[in-house]
Amino acid sequence: MSTQSDANNHWHRRLERNTTLFTVLVTVAILIGGLVELIPLYQVHQRAEDTALVEPYTPLEAVGRDIYVREGCYNCHSQMIRPLHAEVLRYGEWSRSAEYAYDRPFQLGSRRIGPDLAREGGLRTNAWHWEHFWDPRAVVPGSIMPAYKWLYRRNVDVDDARATVRALRRLGTPYTEDHVDNVERYLREQGQAIVDDLATQGIEARWDQEIIAMIAYMQVLGTHLPALLGEDAPAPAPAGEAPGVDAPETAAPPAGQEPATEEAAADQAADEPALPAGEAVADEGADEDGAESDTERAPQDAPPAQDGDTP
Ligand code: HEC
Repeated sequence: MSTQSDANNHWHRRLERNTTLFTVLVTVAILIGGLVELIPLYQVHQRAEDTALVEPYTPLEAVGRDIYVREGCYNCHSQMIRPLHAEVLRYGEWSRSAEYAYDRPFQLGSRRIGPDLAREGGLRTNAWHWEHFWDPRAVVPGSIMPAYKWLYRRNVDVDDARATVRALRRLGTPYTEDHVDNVERYLREQGQAIVDDLATQGIEARWDQEIIAMIAYMQVLGTHLPALLGEDAPAPAPAGEAPGVDAPETAAPPAGQEPATEEAAADQAADEPALPAGEAVADEGADEDGAESDTERAPQDAPPAQDGDTP
């Protein structure tokens, strides 16, 4: 009996009965949580400076991004590397906020059925992507990624592209009037560069195929990181060279990170099929097979644009 009333008089029982005080304390607890979220925003000027080091997507990349959203790639792929040791080892340098400056909407994703794509740019050759989207299992045995054959048949809609550029410009992306007026020229020039690169692998493509825009988008992901880290130039420049960066973020990346950033610098210019060392960490250990079939399969299997094998 006495133990029962002791329990009822415990300090927190008394507190819970005092509804006014309890309400005040709950409010204070919630306010602390709010402050923890708000205070970092006051450091936002640093991020604004970093944003200046990030290039907006080219029109072709923006179109590829639209296709990425349309196809729901975010259901299986994230685009955010958390600052955790295992993630950094697997995917590369962790994501910085400025890298998302022109992402509208964000493609952070919430599930990783496939690997994170935040550092995909320069990791694979254009030809690898061409083969992979046509038939993922031909490149990565056992892959559960669906094929996207219709991207080879469908053409980029220039009017849609212009609307995208115009809308992004209105939202603050620094495109010029020229980007809007001559969007087709921008699409064609960058698309043709990818087509020419594919041609060196015996692949026949057209600049206005949707797959070309998708490849352009894949190849830009994560490539602005070197500028953000102040290690822009391939020539050995002293750390912290880049103007406007004085944050601790400019510290040298942890050892083992070179593959991601070097590859990023090589970007689309790379036409050697070599995969970066350290790739074995990536998915399913099947990547080496992918490299082999990449070179074997390229010419004959170039998917015909008018193949009917599509949904
Ligand atoms: C059902 C889930 C699923 C969907 C949807 C999906 N993927 Fe994947 N993706 C995977 C898996 C699993 C892998 C790893 C195996 C492989 O490489 O095929 C992968 C691998 C990749 C890779 C290779 C990454 C690397 O370098 O190893 C790229 C690029 C990629 N996906 C892009 C896309 C894009 C773009 C879309 C949308 C058009 C998409 N994926 C849709 C599951 C998915």
